[in-house]
Amino acid sequence: MKLFETITETRSFSEKARISGKTIGFVPTMGALHEGHLSLVRKAKSANDLVIVSIFVNPIQFNNPEDLKKYPRTLDKDLEMLESVGCDVVFCPGEKEMYPEKTNKSYDFGTLATVMEGAFRPGHFNGVAIVVHKLFDITLPHKAYFGEKDYQQLQIIRALVRNEKLDVEIVPCPISRETDGLARSSRNERLTPQCRRAAPYIHMVLEEAKSLAPAHTAEQIIRFVSMKFKDHPLLKLEYFSIASSETLQPVSGVILPGSYGFIAVFAGEIRLIDNIKLI
Ligand code: PAF
Repeated sequence: MKLFETITETRSFSEKARISGKTIGFVPTMGALHEGHLSLVRKAKSANDLVIVSIFVNPIQFNNPEDLKKYPRTLDKDLEMLESVGCDVVFCPGEKEMYPEKTNKSYDFGTLATVMEGAFRPGHFNGVAIVVHKLFDITLPHKAYFGEKDYQQLQIIRALVRNEKLDVEIVPCPISRETDGLARSSRNERLTPQCRRAAPYIHMVLEEAKSLAPAHTAEQIIRFVSMKFKDHPLLKLEYFSIASSETLQPVSGVILPGSYGFIAVFAGEIRLIDNIKLI
């Protein structure tokens, strides 16, 4: 497995691979890898000649400086894990390499970026789009793999590819869950033992919402979910939204096929997100 820290080495590797007819699968990450990331790498391995994984904690997508400071960084363990699943190249740039100067690029994703995560984390998706666009230009992938836990991010990346006419196929990957149902996330490492024990409740409530969805309206399900968190001693609901999986705009009344439930919850200080296809 090769480890590159510079854009030049990485792009030149990818250019040569493309010239020799090899296909490239790309998995962008911020490190602190877990089984969910590895499942993306395995999927990329099975469909491409080469797999490149990037590890870069992207400062411009954090709207909360404390969150950036405390984001887990576990590079040695990450590299071991990537080696074990046959990753070919890890691109691991420093901040100066990615952003030699301040960037003020601004993308317009319309209403896709103004709801849910976009509403609660201003600037987040612009920061994600900037780094992912740059990473695509560096790694030149044929296919890029994104987890559905960050469903809104996935839709933003699809819009980025459409709007900027990028020649890369976006491959969505199902949410990877712990055996107790908690969606895998690098942030889970920072949960206190008490909050870790409480956190599977989030998925449990989403499953209950799903089972109620065929016979209830969106407003009734939203009330149900907010009641389930009202007096919870450890989990604080930030939002629960029922929205179209395509447009991400809120659904009202009868829940139509293609609607998802999207949730953000604070478990102590740690913010967790999850989602479920309702119908
Ligand atoms: O999903 C993530 O880990 C990040 O948002 C990404 C796509 C690597 C961009 O920094």
